[in-house]
Amino acid sequence: MIKVAPSILAADFACLLQEARRMEHFGADWLHIDVMDGHFVPNITLGPAVVQALRGRVNLFLDVHLMIEQPQDFLHQFHQAGAQLLTVHVETCPHLHRMIQTIKKMGCKAGVALNPATSLSCLEYILDEVDLVLIMSVNPGFGGQGFIPAVLPKIRALAQEKRRRGLNLEIQVDGGINEENAARVVTAGADILVTGSALFGSAEPQRMVQALKMLPRKEMNV
Ligand code: DX5
Ligand code: ZN
Repeated sequence: MIKVAPSILAADFACLLQEARRMEHFGADWLHIDVMDGHFVPNITLGPAVVQALRGRVNLFLDVHLMIEQPQDFLHQFHQAGAQLLTVHVETCPHLHRMIQTIKKMGCKAGVALNPATSLSCLEYILDEVDLVLIMSVNPGFGGQGFIPAVLPKIRALAQEKRRRGLNLEIQVDGGINEENAARVVTAGADILVTGSALFGSAEPQRMVQALKMLPRKEMNV
C-alpha cells in the first residue's frame, strides 16, 4: 500500500496535536514535518520543540524534512526530540556521505531530498546508503504550490535504478500532490505521498487518505 504523509505545514497550528490525531484517525501513516530556516528557503516554520510536543502523543511515524542550511548542527536536537526519519537536502550538504552516516549512527532513518532542478546523478555513489529519497515536486519553501510535472521522469528513473540495484529505499514525493495527480506520481514509482494543502483543505479528508493509500502501483517486474 502507498503511505500517506500529511504535511503539518497545512494544519491549523493553533491545534496541531488535534490535527495530527485527526490524520492518524483517517488512516495516515506518517506525519511530515517541514522545517524551514529562512536561509535555504525563504520561509521560517518550526523546530525541534514542535517535534517534541508531538512525540509519543500521536501514533504516526515522525518524518522530519529539513530545509535548512548547516543541517549537521541540528541533527542531534531533532533526534532527541523524537524524529524517526531525518531528510536533508543534497543542495545543503557538501559532505553528504558523512551526514548520512551521522544520522544512521544516531539510530534514525536517513533521507536525502532533491530540489526539482537537481539531478538524480548526485546520488549515484550514496544511493545504497540511504533509507529514503525525497523528490521535491515544488520548489521548497511554501505549501500550496502547483505540482511540477517535469519531475515525473526523475521519479521513474529513480524507481528503475532502485530495482536495478535491488534496494529497499523508499521514494517519497512532496509538493502539490492532490487527487488529480497522485495516480501519475504512484505509477511513476512513488512509495510515499506527502500532501498538505489538498488534504487539509479537502471536504472529505478521510476519503482522500484512503483513496491515495489504495492507488495501484505499476507492475514492477518489467
Ligand atoms: C514545501 C514542503 C512541502 C509542502 C507540502 O516546501 O516541503 O511538504 O508543504 O504541501 P503542499 O501539498 O501544499 O504542496
Ligand atoms: Zn516537505
